[in-house]
Amino acid sequence: MDFLNLNDSCAPQPTVKVGEVSVYKGFLSKSDQLLLVGDLRQVAEQAPIFSLKTKSGKAMSVRVTAAGEFGWFSNHQGYRYVSEHPSGATWPEIPASIMSIWQAMAGHAPSPECCLINYYGEGAKMGLHQDRDEANFNWPVVSISLGDDALFRVGGRERSDKTSSIWLQSGDVAVMGGGARLNYHGVDRIKFGSSRLLKSGGRLNVTLRVVT
Ligand code: SIN
Ligand code: FE2
Repeated sequence: MDFLNLNDSCAPQPTVKVGEVSVYKGFLSKSDQLLLVGDLRQVAEQAPIFSLKTKSGKAMSVRVTAAGEFGWFSNHQGYRYVSEHPSGATWPEIPASIMSIWQAMAGHAPSPECCLINYYGEGAKMGLHQDRDEANFNWPVVSISLGDDALFRVGGRERSDKTSSIWLQSGDVAVMGGGARLNYHGVDRIKFGSSRLLKSGGRLNVTLRVVT
């Protein structure tokens, strides 16, 4: 299979900007998306998807797992990167398919140390937040959307800054880098059942991050 089918001499073009985030609409073909879902399913077999609680003890609607050196965890003590799944096992390796998307998008950045996998079931959403638990904000966060459409909202560096929104669809890749790296962002809602990529519906979002 000709994954990504990228030509080295031809960098992908940003097709849409939302806030300062570049969204490469339709970056992944249907066959790329299917291959990624298969690879992510294998990650989830080794590191099953689990629920998180916020600091105040509320269950988050988005469920997660991860690959790479670090995953993500949250409980009454707050949010943090962790080197083990709640089972105590280390995280699986980041699949090569996902690494090749990073290589296409992240320029000369070092390899990502966290591949966070968010699963949005019916009604799931993610509040406006900044990604700021990484050591170096020079490196971008690359975000891959698979499955149902999601209304993605992007603001500025202050929570009170004005926001704009875009529907992210299966196969879109967003890059939060440069001036957009610390911009607030979140997912207001998904259109459950809008895609048939995942058999039981819902949305997978994969974000790649350099942590240390
Ligand atoms: C995130 O900010 O971690 C997720 C963004 C998304 O689901 O598109
Ligand atoms: Fe985020």
